[in-house]
Amino acid sequence: MGRLIIVSNRTPGKGPAAGGLAVALRKTLAEREGFWFGWSGKLVDAPSSEARFESIDGLTVAQIDLTRPDHHAYYAGFSNSILWPSFHLRLDLATIEGHWYEGYRAVNQQFARALLPHLRPDDIIWVHDYHLIPLASELRNLGARNRIGFYLHIPFPTADALYAIPHHNELMRDLSRYDLVGMQAKRDVAAFTEFADHQSPSSISGNPLKSVDFSRSETAAFPIGSDPDAFASLAVSPAATKMVKRVERTLREQRLILGVDRLDYSKGLPQRVEAYEKLLANDARFRRVTHLMQIAPPSRDSIKEYQETSDALDAICGRVMGRFAEPDWSPLTYVKRAYGQPSLAGLYRLARVGLVTPLRDGMNLVAHEFVGSQDPANPGVLVLSRFAGAAEIFPDAIMVNPFDTDETAEALRMALDMPLQERIDRWTTLMAAARKYSVDNWSRNFLERLAPATTSDSATA
Ligand code: G6P
Repeated sequence: MGRLIIVSNRTPGKGPAAGGLAVALRKTLAEREGFWFGWSGKLVDAPSSEARFESIDGLTVAQIDLTRPDHHAYYAGFSNSILWPSFHLRLDLATIEGHWYEGYRAVNQQFARALLPHLRPDDIIWVHDYHLIPLASELRNLGARNRIGFYLHIPFPTADALYAIPHHNELMRDLSRYDLVGMQAKRDVAAFTEFADHQSPSSISGNPLKSVDFSRSETAAFPIGSDPDAFASLAVSPAATKMVKRVERTLREQRLILGVDRLDYSKGLPQRVEAYEKLLANDARFRRVTHLMQIAPPSRDSIKEYQETSDALDAICGRVMGRFAEPDWSPLTYVKRAYGQPSLAGLYRLARVGLVTPLRDGMNLVAHEFVGSQDPANPGVLVLSRFAGAAEIFPDAIMVNPFDTDETAEALRMALDMPLQERIDRWTTLMAAARKYSVDNWSRNFLERLAPATTSDSATA
């Protein structure tokens, strides 16, 4: 069995704050050898193609530094101001500056040049996410003949949104140079297949774009998950209990509605608070006895659209406080800070409702982690956006259209009023699905498909 080389923009850091993906892939790496390759987090004056290797908590990590202008064009520019909004169908929030593509391409070339000298012929390479779509092309241009897989953690866009991206046909050609492309949900594979089957129309300059040959590349859905049983244990761990006790003291008898999201416009945060406002406005029964806690660690805050989302959330939280708070009751807590998994697991278990209402999301692991953390004898209710990939995994959640705040308010009412037996019945099905789609199964399934026991020849270099 060849070694496994994982490549992503960010590499796992030190300490216990590692996300579920890092935990899962760390286990896989420990079983098969190999290393994790990515950006060091450092910005330097002169570009370098020398990777530095180090061992972080037993995991071998190889990193390169980037120059500030390259990083800006690649990360804040092409990746997060063009690809991220377009793939989430928010062309209104995209900033189309075509020249960022050069920095994006240059960083992918730099990754390929730094990685190549460390590759063995039978290494399996697994590339993660939209920052690195061109990496297989760049590696193959340098002569790599390894099996290379790509996993897209975010949704795949509709054809129209894809056409709005500068150089979209080159990106599709880049995808065709992977042996396997994995996506979160069936809807993503359907959108991809539709584009691949029909291809881009001619460019406006009249030059027909050359068609892309997908015959050597396979695309399939591999829905990612969490480790729900680990969350079940974490939720009753001493660290979780400490957090729960603190919150219980301030909550007293109020039922907790909990949201946990990066502060990103795709998460539908202002709409969510507006739905809660409607619940309180429509039904006085819920005042003084419910509490919304929104945990929203800041993200990509050098980008204007993220600052505006943060401002919008500040404004609506302030409005709801001013409208409903009383000297001895506050309707919500809004926390712009990140918490570790044990504290979050404890809060998920304490919550009566997990409110997961992104406007569009690849999967949404908060939904999985919330389900894993519940008390089987007294579980909370998952209210879930139908536009999260998780909606394909958890049909037994209360499903909402997050753009429709009346519908979300009604879903909150149903969740808060739901009798114990129905909560248990729904949660039992959700937990079975969370176990079936665990992160371990996800990585095993993807790697088995990418590198079956007897490998065939890889795509041409
Ligand atoms: C999403 C993306 C990841 C990314 C993460 C955090 O989950 O799919 O690739 O790492 O957001 O965003 P950041 O820009 O801070 O890396």
